[in-house]
Amino acid sequence: MQTLSTNIAATDYVRSCPRPLGLVPTMGALHEGHLALVRRAREENATVVASIFVNPTQFGPQEDLATYPRDMERDLALLEAEGVNLVYAPSPEEVYPPGFDTWVEPGALAERLEGAVRPGHFRGVATVVTKLLNVVTPDRAYFGQKDGQQLAVIRQLARDLNLGVEVVAVPTVRDADGLALSSRNTYLTPEQRAAAPVIYRALSEAGNLWLGGEGNAATLRSAVRCILEAEPLIEAIDYVSVADATSLLELVRVDGPAMVSTAVRMGRTRLIDNMVVGGG
Ligand code: PAJ
Repeated sequence: MQTLSTNIAATDYVRSCPRPLGLVPTMGALHEGHLALVRRAREENATVVASIFVNPTQFGPQEDLATYPRDMERDLALLEAEGVNLVYAPSPEEVYPPGFDTWVEPGALAERLEGAVRPGHFRGVATVVTKLLNVVTPDRAYFGQKDGQQLAVIRQLARDLNLGVEVVAVPTVRDADGLALSSRNTYLTPEQRAAAPVIYRALSEAGNLWLGGEGNAATLRSAVRCILEAEPLIEAIDYVSVADATSLLELVRVDGPAMVSTAVRMGRTRLIDNMVVGGG
């Protein structure tokens, strides 16, 4: 496995790699969720590139950029064991050199849900993903359903800007108790960790109600909210949404694929999760 940290070296390296080439963009602190993306990419491509870059421009000023978990040595060992060909791990200066001043601004899709609570977040994501795609030139890029809105924003980005990459969605990997794996779960105290699966239970309740014939989106939202509010360790609920899975517009009735999503705060940790109901 090769590890490279400059744009030129990475672009040069991939030029001689067999195609198709799959890219798995990450911010490191890898867990089984990330590795599910890597394994899928390994199955489907002749060459697999993973990127590790904690992207400063997608963090708000009050967010956890400084404390975001980092463990390059462990990440590299995990990626090597999965048969990754190249790890591209640039420095912040390599990605954003002095004078950097061009941004990829996603539209309405990025203003809702996470975008409303984290202004500028998806501009940072869209910009860095565009740059990673331009450096690595993959045929396919792999993203987790865990970050459902990010996936929707990137699909639209690829379509709108003719990026010529196939965006592949990988299902959310969960712990046995239902908690979606996330690098930020390491922030949770043991008590918070024990309480956190309530998020999955709340989303599952919406799924079960829908399966039982409940198509009223407001009823699904209140069922999710009711379960979350019963957990005292959840200090705030940023949103509970039942939205069209593609446009992310809030629904009145669920009669096609809908994304039920939520973001909650437990202490200093913000957790997001979603579940797609209604087929698709
Ligand atoms: P990061 O949070 O490191 O996640 C990298 C990829 O792993 C994303 O596509 C994310 O959706 C996926 N992922 C995370 N947890 C997952 C889980 N439990 N199951 C399945 N997939 C999971 O998302 C980012 O980094 C950044 O925004 C990035 C796209 C790299 C741009 O900076």
